[in-house]
Amino acid sequence: MRTIICDLTRAQLEATGARFDAAVTREDLAAAHDCAGCFGCWVRTPGVCVIRDSLGDLGVLIARTKELWIFSQNAFGGFSPLVKRALDRSIGYLHPNFRMANAQMHHRLRYPDHELTISCWLYGPSTEAERACFGRIASANALNLGARLAGIWFPADELGAGAEKNAPAVPAAATQPHAPALPRRVALVNGSPRGARSATAQLLGDFAEALPVYARMAGVGRPELVRATRAELLEGCDVVLIGYPLYVDALPGGLVELLERSRGVISPGTRVYALANMGFYEAEQIVPSFSVIENFCAGSGARWMGGVAVGAGGMLGAIAKSPRMGMLRRGVSEAIDRLIMAVLAGSDAGEGLARPGVPRWAYRLAAEAQWRRLAREHGADLDARPADAT
Ligand SMILES: Cc1cc2nc3c(=O)[nH]c(=O)nc-3n(C[C@H](O)[C@H](O)[C@H](O)COP(=O)(O)O)c2cc1C
Repeated sequence: MRTIICDLTRAQLEATGARFDAAVTREDLAAAHDCAGCFGCWVRTPGVCVIRDSLGDLGVLIARTKELWIFSQNAFGGFSPLVKRALDRSIGYLHPNFRMANAQMHHRLRYPDHELTISCWLYGPSTEAERACFGRIASANALNLGARLAGIWFPADELGAGAEKNAPAVPAAATQPHAPALPRRVALVNGSPRGARSATAQLLGDFAEALPVYARMAGVGRPELVRATRAELLEGCDVVLIGYPLYVDALPGGLVELLERSRGVISPGTRVYALANMGFYEAEQIVPSFSVIENFCAGSGARWMGGVAVGAGGMLGAIAKSPRMGMLRRGVSEAIDRLIMAVLAGSDAGEGLARPGVPRWAYRLAAEAQWRRLAREHGADLDARPADAT
């Protein structure tokens, strides 16, 4: 069975001449919700999303699919917000427990015998950096889904016509007027759908609490902090810190949409940093997603200044009340402190990797025990395979 997920209307999809057995088109995506980040598809109704809209059974559809074709407009070298919405809503296809692949943590497969190939078309103008970024993200997606990546293509338009087309060059950030190095207004963006309850909020909260301490020590004025819940609030900020959880190896769909809306709002020369966390242990897995933000900066005249990637994010809530420089939190606290110093100095933060002070085996045991407990509490079977039901 071949399934197409695309941000084209059904009419546009039919105009491409592509043959398919099932399709999720722009109409379905636009009518659906973003993932809420609740993990209900793992612990309440395993394999099926608890939001019962047009994407509620996407995990089941993928489990019945042999060839998954994805047509998406290019969004900074990643999937468009609508296609990303679908991918974020599809994680019920996976099992919450872990397996090791390429010496890194990934999810176990809910349907281990299922063979899936993925082909991706990222249409519209793209830069070389965006195409390279997309290659890394699509490969990571295939690895996480236990699928074979059949190929990626970069057609110039949504009909699949033409060879790849270079995006128009944007003047390099260095040629734009620079904001002064000392930040006056710092925007904190929380890209987690879980909002105030998220690990992202916790990390941003830690940043916001520690920043005045470092500003005082450095003898510089304390910058104003703006909780930027909408793109318009980024206007006039000389630093933007983007906090987010890794969702399907990239930014959550809602955050990609916010970045799209911030083009033209964010001032040229604005310094952009990232503070990301993830469910797997190895923070390295976040790094390809930084390129999406870097591409956003390159396309909007902002300056990408690097960020901090935090692995084992599932642990952050549990250790929130332990001492900031205690064994469990120290690595993450120090990484945030280095980020603060970079923000205050207007310097590059590089790619900082950090995680709570727990060994991988203990993190894995704790996380898997938690999934089991939550499923039990909801009377759910963690190993359910709803796609096998007739
Ligand atoms: C839809 C979805 C996709 C996810 N994809 C990944 C992933 O690709 N890699 C990963 O390590 N964790 C992944 N996670 C786990 C989250 O990154 C992790 O739970 C994180 O700590 C959530 O942070 P938050 O509380 O700030 O939202 C995913 C979670 C969800 C809900």
